[in-house]
Amino acid sequence: MRKLVVGNWKMNGLAASLAEIEALKGLTSSATCEIVVCPPFTLIERATARSHGSSIAIGAQDCHSEATGAYTGDVSAQMLAEIGARFVIVGHSERRSTYQETDMSVAAKARAAHAAGLTSIICVGETQSERDLGKAIEIVTRQVIRSMPTSGASENTAIAYEPRWAIGSGLVPSISQVEDVHAAIRETLVERVGADGRAIRILYGGSLKPSNAASIFSIENVDGGLIGGASLKASDFTAIIAAAG
Ligand code: PGA
Repeated sequence: MRKLVVGNWKMNGLAASLAEIEALKGLTSSATCEIVVCPPFTLIERATARSHGSSIAIGAQDCHSEATGAYTGDVSAQMLAEIGARFVIVGHSERRSTYQETDMSVAAKARAAHAAGLTSIICVGETQSERDLGKAIEIVTRQVIRSMPTSGASENTAIAYEPRWAIGSGLVPSISQVEDVHAAIRETLVERVGADGRAIRILYGGSLKPSNAASIFSIENVDGGLIGGASLKASDFTAIIAAAG
């Protein structure tokens, strides 16, 4: 399976940051993995133009579940598709915790993304206390079942496993912890959609960096990564991409 490496810029990036996309274009021309950059909404259209002629696709960090309507401040999946986005992250833990997004609302957003022709990157992950209680696998597989709509298939969905305690903290789970959770997600996907569940990419995210990327990407059922902090600098992000092949 071709690995998928996604950079999530979060609320970082002004026009000058588009230079990172230019740099990335030059540095990744021989990469075999699929590369996606998710800048803030304001840069999506320009980022799409800058990435033209390269293998870098542009994605968004969120979308609304409805196509149109009285939702002040929100952006629909259709609007994102119109300005060139091909992917959208839904249910990132920062949105689940800051905006009380639930599995149900995440599934509705993913469904809207699919209807607009976008690939959804559905995020799941346990908290530190849930892991301490031995509930990581139970929590994560439940999130997968509830957050993935029936429209989810390998051509329009990736799952990102991001332990909440690993995001932006410098902490990473052990190889066997990642292996166990990814295996459980794979099993859940196959139960859910049948054989196509084997082709849905499962990304790891949380403090991925050049120094740990190769070992994480070599774990079974790790089909790529979702990278926050280390995606902001083209040189770091490129090293991670190189580790993905
Ligand atoms: P991090 O963030 O790589 O900075 O830990 C990952 C994410 O939030 O997607």
